Amino acid sequence: MRRLAILNHKGGVGKTTTCFNLACAYADQGLKVLCVDLDPQGHLALSFGITEAGLSGVDSLFFDDADLSPLLIDAREGIDLLPAGYRLGEIERLAAQGRNKAQLLRQRLDEIADDYDLLMMDCPPNSGLLNFNALFVADEVVIPVSGDYLALQGLSQLLKTLRSAERFMNKPIRMWIALTRFTVRRRLAQQVRDKLIRYFPDKLLATAVRENAPLAECPSFGKSIFDYSRRSNGAQDYRALADDLLYGRVVGSA
Ligand SMILES: Nc1ncnc2c1ncn2[C@@H]1O[C@H](COP(=O)(O)OP(=O)(O)O)[C@@H](O)[C@H]1O
Ligand SMILES: [Mg+2]
Repeated sequence: MRRLAILNHKGGVGKTTTCFNLACAYADQGLKVLCVDLDPQGHLALSFGITEAGLSGVDSLFFDDADLSPLLIDAREGIDLLPAGYRLGEIERLAAQGRNKAQLLRQRLDEIADDYDLLMMDCPPNSGLLNFNALFVADEVVIPVSGDYLALQGLSQLLKTLRSAERFMNKPIRMWIALTRFTVRRRLAQQVRDKLIRYFPDKLLATAVRENAPLAECPSFGKSIFDYSRRSNGAQDYRALADDLLYGRVVGSA
């Protein structure tokens, strides 16, 4: 099982959109995907059209040492979802203890790893503890970067953080950058892209995901971009990005 975290401390860069649509792209190819929503806002479950309030999920692992299997939701063909759970927002109060819980999350996921080809974790924008947990579990991190200048500023800091996490956890973490919300005709976006190509050719996935309205619309219908608008730019881009990630296609290898 490949273990991926979709992570960026910045909000609104397309983490959830990327996690959701990549998972659906892989499931459509017949792969078995386990999605884990580590964001207390629970947007990943909403994207799948799962709107029940009061669901339990990752929160139950942390607070009650619950078994994992009963918490899984059959989100759609080929995808099981471990929802965030309504108490996940309280996780920060576990403080130092929460770090030990990272071992627990990893153990529990190990137990069912054979059932899946891919693990995809959607991470929150600003929880140190939950992102620590995600990194503890992940072997690979996908960093969505939107095409604006500020997004680029946070990136080198984030890469530094990831490198120190590697050292601390004593394991390699493969880092991928995905350019999202790309506006082809905006000069600033082109500049951001040029910089990413220049400085991170071995990390930047080959496809830039364009800004595309159907991508913002499809979650409210509980549909993936492929079901909602098969011929849209968004569907085209996320299909290509899914292959990039599957085969390790970065701009430097193209
Ligand atoms: N390529 C895109 N084109 C248009 N809208 C997008 C695109 N990617 C994301 N969005 C929209 O931008 C907002 C933030 O995206 P989201 O995936 O929720 O970011 P994050 O999880 O990083 O906070 C959402 O409303 C989403 O629908
Ligand atoms: Mg999100």
